[in-house]
Amino acid sequence: MAGLAIATLLAVSIAPVATSLVEDWSRRDVELRSTLVFNSIQDRLSGLLAAEDAETLAHVMERVALDERILAVGICGEKGPPLFPSKLMPVTLACEKVARSETKSFSTFLVGGHPLLVGSFPLRQNRGHFVVLNDLSFAEKRGLKARIYMTAIVAAIVLASILLTVTTAILTLRGWISGLRESIAALGRGTPLEYENVRHGPLAEELRDVLRQIDESRAAIDGEHTTWSAEKLKEVVSIELPNVEVMVVSNREPYIHNRTEAGIELQIPASGLVSALEPVTRACGGTWIAHGSGSADRETVDADDRLRVPPDDPTYTLRRVWLSDEEQDGYYYGFANEGLWPLCHIAFTRPNFRESDWETYRDVNERFADAVAQEARGDSPIVLVQDYHFALLPRFLRERLPHATITTFWHIPWPNAETFSICPWKEEIIEGLLGSTVLGFHTQFHCNNFIETVDRFVESRIDRENGSVTLGGHETFVKPYPISIEWPPAALLKQQSVSRCRAAVRERFGWGPDTKVAIGIERFDYTKGVLDRMQAVDCFLASHPEWRGKFVFVQAAAPTRSKLEAYKGLQDEAIQLAAAINKRHGTGTYKPIELVIRHHEQDEVYELLRAADVCIVSSLHDGMNLVAKEFIAARDDEQGVLILSNFAGASRELSEAIIVNPYDASGMGRAIEKALTMPGAEQRERMRLMRDLVRSRNVYRWAGMMLLDASRIRKKRRLLELIG
Ligand code: F6P
Repeated sequence: MAGLAIATLLAVSIAPVATSLVEDWSRRDVELRSTLVFNSIQDRLSGLLAAEDAETLAHVMERVALDERILAVGICGEKGPPLFPSKLMPVTLACEKVARSETKSFSTFLVGGHPLLVGSFPLRQNRGHFVVLNDLSFAEKRGLKARIYMTAIVAAIVLASILLTVTTAILTLRGWISGLRESIAALGRGTPLEYENVRHGPLAEELRDVLRQIDESRAAIDGEHTTWSAEKLKEVVSIELPNVEVMVVSNREPYIHNRTEAGIELQIPASGLVSALEPVTRACGGTWIAHGSGSADRETVDADDRLRVPPDDPTYTLRRVWLSDEEQDGYYYGFANEGLWPLCHIAFTRPNFRESDWETYRDVNERFADAVAQEARGDSPIVLVQDYHFALLPRFLRERLPHATITTFWHIPWPNAETFSICPWKEEIIEGLLGSTVLGFHTQFHCNNFIETVDRFVESRIDRENGSVTLGGHETFVKPYPISIEWPPAALLKQQSVSRCRAAVRERFGWGPDTKVAIGIERFDYTKGVLDRMQAVDCFLASHPEWRGKFVFVQAAAPTRSKLEAYKGLQDEAIQLAAAINKRHGTGTYKPIELVIRHHEQDEVYELLRAADVCIVSSLHDGMNLVAKEFIAARDDEQGVLILSNFAGASRELSEAIIVNPYDASGMGRAIEKALTMPGAEQRERMRLMRDLVRSRNVYRWAGMMLLDASRIRKKRRLLELIG
């Protein structure tokens, strides 16, 4: 608009100047022509006048007037109309009004509305003045044309410059924005140190500040003096992710309803995943989507397959997804637990891959993706995808909810690339996981294994410095988040004192008050090293027979995945091994190994952990192992010794435990001896350090770190979208 106004203004001010210039030129042109005409005929005229040849004179005048620009010619005396006028001489022209002098002179008249230029030239011997009349209308027309052309030219020039300016501005802006984008993308990936390297580019300084603030917010919130709790997590979520919708997806549900003879019973499954995520979901609210596996699950949901939980104080919604027996066989027992589980755990159990299981696994992942999309209230929830049951879900979710922040946590180890290459669908699994915004493992070691696997099998861009993988333009951050337990654990609050727990458990099993107790407690899984632990007890008692009758080992094992041969076989083997060791070292009523195969509720678990002198966690391979952390949380008396496998992720954090190689039965036997004879003061010192660590690095921090990273990435991507 402003450009047009400028163009109009210019045209209006320049056009009159152009007009008068053209009119001036035209007039001078006419004057010159009149002079030329006169010069060419003045001798002839003088001759004819002297000869008083009126007839020839009239004839000559008519011929001169034939010139297209000349209107009329004549000879002026002192006054009155011109003599020898050509045909078109206006009758109103009087010689006394015509400017005459001794040289040539010009004057203008308006005759019949037309401007006339009258040139008068003195004839020799005072024979009057030769007058030439020219119609000046053409000069006016030329002036008008000139005005129009000039206006058009000025307008064209101004418009062209406007166009040029706008184009230049657009191009500059584009370059500016793409520079800005690059800066942000680089900064978005960058560590705080790298921000300093971005010195150029539009708004670089401002951007650095905003991004630094976003990044520093994580460190500021997770400061040295931060105490992570349910309240702290709630506060962080409400400040950093206001009004955000949090959704959790896992195979195992946090509350199972089973039909028993006594009616419907509520069960909380023996699952590290559930014990970690349940308090977090309680704190954040939202929706948890899981497989409804209980025999009375369908009877306890509403028409939309939902129910509010926890039953005694509902804070979030559980949405159950139903699976047929065939689906469970293919997806859960088949691909997840006979394929991926042994593939990822180096426990020397062969993985089995069947195409039909893979297809069912893929279909079930799609079913869960549909359920999440159905439950989502907005288009950008934070979806916390759990575990190896859902390797394909992140990609399916990304297709359905492109703006969602998908944080996937892989609860089990990730093997090296060589081992993973066994899987016939390795590329699909990797690509599925790379649909995530953030992909978490317990340890940096597992993150590195994953990145190496991607490097080997999928064409993608890997940024090792920042731990990210970009596939098809989508960047996934691969980061360690060591999982933990709630602090203090809810089940601990209901416990009696340690001495009472000790007395109660010893009485229940019929042991003397001074009997030393070691405990192992978990799902009956071949990765947990249950047999190896028993063999260690065997070695210990063989080399320290003085402990017979004074030491017992209780193995509490919850049956799990019993449909599968590898698990059935393990139970049988464990029963036989316990019997053999009991036979070898037992006397009378003394049984060194007590094998209790059943599900234990959390209250019972904590009572056993408080009653024990030693807790043995001898996993052959484990992502983290939360039993180790539960034992530490259970011991508010600061007593008790933890024997911990070098191959459990927990050993990276709990270095004050006695770290063992579960494959070395004699070495573990020696560790049992060391634990049983450890002075109380040393136990206290070790326990204090480990309790401090588990207290501060509790499950709220685990979830908080993942949610803060999600929030950081959301903020940076929003910033990018805003300027895009
Ligand atoms: O260790 C992996 C894991 O998914 C844990 O998170 C969980 O405790 C356990 O397996 C549960 O197994 P399932 O659901 O098959 O009983």
